[in-house]
Formats: sequence, C-alpha cells, structure tokens
Amino acid sequence: MTTRFLLLLLLFFLLSLSFFHLYSKDWDGPWKLPFRTSDILPLIPFSALRPILSSVYSAVDLLPTFVGSVSSPENSLEWKGACFYNNSAWMEFHNKSKSPYGGGTLHLKVSNAHSWTCLDLYAFATPFHLTWDYYFLSREHTIEFHEWEGEAEYEYVKHHGVSIFLMKSGMLGTLRALWDVFPLFTNTGWGENSNVNFLKKHMGAKFEERPEPWFSTINVDDIHSGDFLVLSKIRGRWGGFETLEKWVTGAYGGHSAVCLKDSDGKLWVAESGHANDKGEDIIAILPWEEWWSFELNKDDSDPHIALLPLHPNLRAKFNNSAAWEYARSLDGKPYGYHNMIFSWIDTTSGNYPPPLDAQLVASGMILWSKVMPDYAANLWNEALNKRLGTEDLDLPDIIVETEQRGSSFAKLLAMPEQDDWIYSDGSSTSCVAFILQMYKHAGLFDPISTSIQVTEFTIKDAYTLNFFENNSSRLPEWCNKEDSVKLPFCQIKGKYRMELPDYNTIQPYPHMNEKCPSLPPNYDRPIYC
Ligand SMILES: *[C@@H]1O[C@H](CO)[C@@H](O)[C@H](O)[C@H]1NC(C)=O
Ligand SMILES: *[C@@H]1O[C@H](CO)[C@@H](O)[C@H](O)[C@H]1NC(C)=O
Ligand SMILES: *[C@@H]1O[C@H](CO)[C@@H](O)[C@H](O)[C@H]1NC(C)=O
Ligand SMILES: *[C@@H]1O[C@H](CO)[C@@H](O)[C@H](O)[C@H]1NC(C)=O
Ligand SMILES: *[C@@H]1O[C@H](CO)[C@@H](O)[C@H](O)[C@H]1NC(C)=O
Repeated sequence: MTTRFLLLLLLFFLLSLSFFHLYSKDWDGPWKLPFRTSDILPLIPFSALRPILSSVYSAVDLLPTFVGSVSSPENSLEWKGACFYNNSAWMEFHNKSKSPYGGGTLHLKVSNAHSWTCLDLYAFATPFHLTWDYYFLSREHTIEFHEWEGEAEYEYVKHHGVSIFLMKSGMLGTLRALWDVFPLFTNTGWGENSNVNFLKKHMGAKFEERPEPWFSTINVDDIHSGDFLVLSKIRGRWGGFETLEKWVTGAYGGHSAVCLKDSDGKLWVAESGHANDKGEDIIAILPWEEWWSFELNKDDSDPHIALLPLHPNLRAKFNNSAAWEYARSLDGKPYGYHNMIFSWIDTTSGNYPPPLDAQLVASGMILWSKVMPDYAANLWNEALNKRLGTEDLDLPDIIVETEQRGSSFAKLLAMPEQDDWIYSDGSSTSCVAFILQMYKHAGLFDPISTSIQVTEFTIKDAYTLNFFENNSSRLPEWCNKEDSVKLPFCQIKGKYRMELPDYNTIQPYPHMNEKCPSLPPNYDRPIYC
C-alpha cells in the first residue's frame, strides 16, 4: 500500500503548489525598481501575480529545487537559498506525544539574506506528511512533526530523512489560498468527516445514510463473470487519496475490481492494485470469500462497494476463457503507475481544476522523484519519453526538449496513451484499465475494440458505459434488500448510499474518452469527446 501513499503525496503536492504557464520567455518589462522582481512577488496579491510570473520565469526555472534531506542532529545539511545564502538544517527526534513512535522537530537556521525584501519558501516532505513554510528573518526556525504516522514513517525518516525543497517565492500566494480553500489539507488526519465534507462541498456528493445492515448477504450464484465492482473508500490515507482522485476525475468511486467465475463455478475477484503481504501493489486473483471477508472486516478505509451486474446480452457475449487468459497473464504483476495520471489529462486545459495545471504536475513529479527515488525512477519519465519518442530523458530535459520542439508540457501530457505501449516492467494497467482491457479481450467492445484505448478511461468512464443490467426486476433478490431507495445497481457495503451519476448510459464509440475535459463541480462531458 505504500506506493498508493506516494501517489497521495504526489496529488497532495499538486494541490499544494502554484500554477504557472510553461511557455514563458525571459522578459524585460518596465520594472525599474530598487529590488528584484522575484523578491517582491510574494507580497503582491496572487491574482495580480500570475501574468507577471509567467513572463518572469522560464519553465524549468519554476520547478522546485531539492536541497537535501535531514535525518538526525549529527548530520546537518547546509545549502544556499535564493534569498538567504547561509542555511542549515538538522532533525531531532522526540516523544512529546507519548506515542509508540514519537515525533520530531526539524530545525532550520537561515542567515545572510541578500536583500531586506526577500524571503525563502520551502516545502518539507515525508511519504506521509507535507508541510511548507517561508522565512523572512535570519534566525532559527522549527518545523514540528507532532507524531509519526506509524512505524513506516518513523523508519523512513530515520533512514532517509525529511526532504527539503526550495520553492519559487511566487508560490506563496497559492499555498496560502489553497490552505484556505481546501480544509482537507489542513487536517492532519484523513478522517471520514473531512473526506465526506470535501466531496459534498467540491463535487456536490450527497452522502445520505442508508438503513442498516450496511452490507448485503450475498448469494454468489447470482454473481457472474464480468460483473464490475466499484469501491469508494472514505477513511484514512486511502480515503484521502481517493477523495483527490474523485475530485480530479469526477468519478464517484476510487477503485474497481471485477468478478470472474472459473469452469467449476467458483467465484473469484480480479483486482489491479491489491496490496500483498510485502506492501506492494500488484494484480491479483483472489477467491471471493477472501476478498469479501477482507472488505467486510479488515479494510480500515470504510469501503463502500457496489456490484454492477453485466447486462444479459453482454454476459452472453463475454468470452470467459479469453478473460481468464488475460487475467492469468497479469497475475502477480505490478500495478500500473506509468499511465495512471494520463487517463485524466486529455485536454491541455480542460482537466485541471484550479489551481492545478501542467506546471504543477511537473513540480509534483520532481518532488516525488526525490522523496521516493526507488519507485519514481521510471514512474512518469518513461511514459513521457514514449510520447516524445525519446529514451531516458529526465523530467527537466523532457521539458526543455518539448519546448525546443515548439510544443508545451501541457500538450505532451494530453497526448493519448496507447494500450500497446510496453514499459520496462511490462504493460501498465491501473485498476480500471485492467478491467476494461479484460472486457476488450472478452469481446465486449467488439466490433470497435481496436479503436478503444482503455488507458484513457477513468472509473467514471467505466460505470457510465451502457454495459450493465438495466431491468431492475432482474437484479438479485438480495440486492439493496433493506434499503427503501432502489438503486439501479447493487450496493453491497457502506453506510452511505452510493451515487453513480450517468450510470449505464453511454454506448461506446471509436476513440471514446480521448478528448474529454473533466472540470468540477459539474464535470460536463461533451458527447463523443
Ligand atoms: C553560516 O552559518 C553557520 C552556522 O550558523 C556559521 O557557523 C558560518 O560561519 C556561517 N557562514 C557564513 C559564510 O556566514
Ligand atoms: C514514547 O512514550 C510512550 C509512553 O511513555 C512509550 O510507550 C513509547 O514507546 C515511546 N516511544 C518512543 C519512540 O520512545
Ligand atoms: C474465446 O476465447 C478463446 C481464447 O482466446 C478463443 O480460443 C475462442 O475462440 C473464443 N470464443 C469465441 C466464441 O469467440
Ligand atoms: C435495456 O437495454 C436493452 C438493450 O440494450 C433495451 O432493448 C431495453 O429497452 C432496455 N430496457 C430498459 C428497461 O431500459
Ligand atoms: C424486465 O425483466 C422482467 C423479468 O425478466 C420481464 O418480465 C420484463 O418484461 C422486463 N422488462 C423490460 C422492460 O424489458
């Protein structure tokens, strides 16, 4: 599950940074002021800042700079900032919280400012925490980590330290604005209420309570190969991660899995993004009983789960042996991160809810690659290189190369993923791409399957396909049995009634979802995008 946390962190970064346009050129404006423009920028209101910034900085200059990481009082780090030329930092562990792993204090000493108006803005990151601060005065400052999230964070900080990034000072305005707009990110915990409130406020989700029991008593005879499972997690870091994913993509679910029956009639669940014993996210085929008992009893993210039975016509079309063949060929392979982000970026500006944009994505990628180099080595670079037709360029080089070709990073991100691209660790399948690829093999997209790129589909794109049962009298009798409101699908777990707007409505068409914008709060979708 660790890697999911990292994705969370990335999104968190994306939200925590600023937004600028990439294609700015150096510019000598009419600024004859007694201080450097870049020093005074943080003091200007943010709305006025944006046009100035995009003309002052060039793309690569805007990216955050990794200055290093600190893990103990013994090895202090020293560096030169943009404003303060003499800085040092060290880490002290403490147990003020009286918790199993204690917490820590990061000390920073900044001095030798080059001008009286300048300041330095920093982000501090572990895979579990992100915070930021800015320094105006020469003195010692501290960043408090009251309590580590658990053994994983404690061990991480002991061995790898807290990563420190120097940000462009112009980002201060956005950081402040974000903190006000998105209370989710100010809460230290990813409590259920912060997730629910965020989704209510920013997506218009309802979260109506349903009558108990909050789980179905299921007869597995009524479940068939190809039936789709939508999961929506609302508590803990998984919940926090999914909340961001939902908000960005407009999906009312954050994870998905698919049912498969074998030739003996035994029911299985195939899932891309299953956490194995070692904490890695893999593709797995699990017996239904094992999967369901985990979701009922052990999953601490309070998963809400809906079963979407295939329409009988599609069930008849579903080639079960081809589906199994596909699932077995990927069993045990790593979850696909390469293309995850590309499934929601289709247009250069229609997929970024403010204040996200391509620049921010680039900043997030840079931060990520420093906090988790083992995982990040090829995370997006490989996918971006494929789009450019290059090999082994790192992110800043990719941006430079893109601009030299007269294009922009935003356009590069918007280029559609090709399902047949093979990455160094195999083909890349996110949870929903895995299921739709299986549908493709099983013949559900025939006769247009060659012009469907499933990596372009989000979870919402999957549940809005008109593939599912549309006659409520054919739903299993245990389906929504205790609920007074009859949903068109079977919600099998969860306190709140699940919503899947536009469920089961869209007939697939060639090049579906390759050019769709997705902007909150309405996520309007042009037909045939
Ligand atoms: C930088 O700061 C350190 C620690 O505060 C100090 O020992 C050192 O002399 C300073 N260096 C300069 C060039 O001012
Ligand atoms: C912190 O204090 C608590 C309670 O005194 C103790 O149980 C825990 O082991 C301590 N943690 C560390 C890391 O020292
Ligand atoms: C189903 O898939 C298998 C394996 O890919 C294939 O051999 C078989 O011909 C397919 N059946 C139909 C009816 O298309
Ligand atoms: C369900 O779908 C089928 C085929 O897609 C269609 O013929 C039928 O009219 C639909 N039924 C309802 C109740 O919408
Ligand atoms: C829905 O299914 C029931 C039971 O199979 C059937 O009697 C009814 O005609 C179907 N309704 C439609 C609109 O297809």
